[in-house]
Amino acid sequence: MRRLVRETELNAGDFLYPMFLVPGTGIRKPIGSMPGICQLSVDEAVKEAREALRLGVGGVILFGIPPEKDLEASGAYDPNGIVQLGIVALKRELPELLVVTDVCLCEYTSHGHCGVIEGEELLNDPSVELLVKTAISHARAGADMVAPSDMMDGRIGAIRQALDASGFETVPVMAYSAKYASSYYGPFREAAESAPAFGDRRSYQMDPPNAREALKEVALDLDEGADIVMVKPALAYMDIIWRVKQMTDRPVAAYNVSGEYAMVKAAAERGWIDEKKLVLETLVGLKRAGADILITYHALEAARWLNDA
Ligand code: PBG
Ligand code: ZN
Repeated sequence: MRRLVRETELNAGDFLYPMFLVPGTGIRKPIGSMPGICQLSVDEAVKEAREALRLGVGGVILFGIPPEKDLEASGAYDPNGIVQLGIVALKRELPELLVVTDVCLCEYTSHGHCGVIEGEELLNDPSVELLVKTAISHARAGADMVAPSDMMDGRIGAIRQALDASGFETVPVMAYSAKYASSYYGPFREAAESAPAFGDRRSYQMDPPNAREALKEVALDLDEGADIVMVKPALAYMDIIWRVKQMTDRPVAAYNVSGEYAMVKAAAERGWIDEKKLVLETLVGLKRAGADILITYHALEAARWLNDA
């Protein structure tokens, strides 16, 4: 009876699984604050993505840790960069796999900020130029979708135009539209080795108390041509997910971020929670709040649980 009247159904196909790529072969380097998640060399990433595909997970979203970082973030748009090599290998070995890429500069800059800096100031427009180069190079390598996570103004329009002008009009843009300056990103910065060397990201990411501003950011990105809009983090921002869902018919994504994952894993290790039930409850809650797409480090295990049920 419950099954018959259930309003929201979670599917493995709703999930995007984030992966952290590093140079080399045969590398699976565990991330201390994210039990179960590793930095992966491309060959290992192919194995993991094959498992994701087998489980029916909707796709993967790639992050890269380059061998060297510099002021221009050159590893981000290097045609032989780590993400570009990852895209090529994944699409060659697993053509059916949906490969999305995170487009940002913070993993590639020596200072760890998401753009170009002058002194301690982040420069919006020069950053957008490099983000455009990065998105195009991902598309050229074969990415199915690009996802800019930097929060610079005007980057969605600039990337959309450049994709169209370069023959990639069928590559959609998933915009990290309402991305908050959040403490929940701590474990990710260990995983991606992208903690800012000075200051914080509050000059470009959003202030947690603001909701109307999030809707404005979403409206701008929709106007600039975003195909999917994202709210991030997820749990502390379920009201934003709900409001964004009400304002657009375009799909909404929610990013269940590293700190949200780490908290669950820490409590589960202590035996304080029933991890399986709790994770599925959280994910269905995000979907009920309006998220069509769930970006989560729990993707593989949640897919297994759903498939077993
Ligand atoms: C890069 C980026 C971040 C995350 C996704 N893309 C970190 C940040 O902005 O510092 C966070 C993901 C997570 O915490 O799981 N801009
Ligand atoms: Zn960034």
